Amino acid sequence: MIGTDIGLAAAFLRQGKTVGIPTETVYGLAANALDEDAVVSIFKIKERPFFDPLIVHVASIEDARKHVKSFPEKALQLASRFWPGPLTLLLEKNDNIPFLVTSGSSKVAIRIPNHPLTLALLNQLEFPLAAPSANPFGYISPTRASHVEDQLGPKIPYILDGGSSHVGLESTIVDCTGESYSVARLGGLHLKDIEECLGEKLLVQISSNSNPSAPGQLDKHYAPSTKFTLSNNIDKMISDNKSKRIAILSFGVAKYPPDIFQMNLSETASLDEAARNLFHYMRSLDDMKFDLILAQKLPDEGLGLAINDRLGRASEN
Ligand code: TXA
Ligand code: MG
Repeated sequence: MIGTDIGLAAAFLRQGKTVGIPTETVYGLAANALDEDAVVSIFKIKERPFFDPLIVHVASIEDARKHVKSFPEKALQLASRFWPGPLTLLLEKNDNIPFLVTSGSSKVAIRIPNHPLTLALLNQLEFPLAAPSANPFGYISPTRASHVEDQLGPKIPYILDGGSSHVGLESTIVDCTGESYSVARLGGLHLKDIEECLGEKLLVQISSNSNPSAPGQLDKHYAPSTKFTLSNNIDKMISDNKSKRIAILSFGVAKYPPDIFQMNLSETASLDEAARNLFHYMRSLDDMKFDLILAQKLPDEGLGLAINDRLGRASEN
């Protein structure tokens, strides 16, 4: 069931059930982070391996403090500046957070999402919400309630409908447990904004392999079921695949043959607009059952970095 009843969502969550929740980044599949049975059901519904840990969502910095051993000064600076918002901090976890949530790690990933419905929900609840993106493991993340309904609807009692996610990319993750901070996942918050706030450069330590110690950063992720290729040379890909039904995920000024079906992430070449459209367009193209989807590489700047990361992981080459 889809609706906007926060009280009903809270009631299901208090019963240990999982509920789809809107956030500014992507929709989450939420359950009581302190209830191990509820957390297990998230993994089951998503068909997610237990080695891939979950982000804990809270309503305030005060609430976040209850779940971490310490909140270092620099991390607090980031939280005060960017929360609620598309930033997740890795901090040393407190004993109340089950290892199931962190996949055995002593660190917990935590954030305050910036969506009025979910903030109101978190404020009503007596517990934090563990929530991965609300898609089957490995598939494209959802940015609308209908995306969640299409894939997980029959498995969950309720989806809180908060419209389309206005950032459209998962949160940027910053590891705050060492001396110098590093970025563990590129996402919806610009790197340069984080660096400006800290007054220092961040190490970007994104894994590009299938190493379970770097969960969520698996090579093959965010993938449509249609063959999907990220390319710097779309024209060559078109001429190499003449016999195929091709669609193009493009960006900026249209420059490909008009007889090929195209969805343009942003005609005005806005990377923020492209981020908002990305997952919805990938899903739409996937539903149209082309033989091949060709995605144009975006400029490696601003949110283009995170978008190229997602396109690369969705791509077969
Ligand atoms: O924007 C977001 O972050 C969305 C919304 C729903 O908040 N959530 C999201 O969750 O993208 P998910 O599960 O799809 O990705 C979470 C990723 C994991 O795959 C992992 O890379 C990282 O966050 N992560 C979570 N807990 C961690 C931990 N304890 N240590 C290291 N990485 C962790
Ligand atoms: Mg995900």
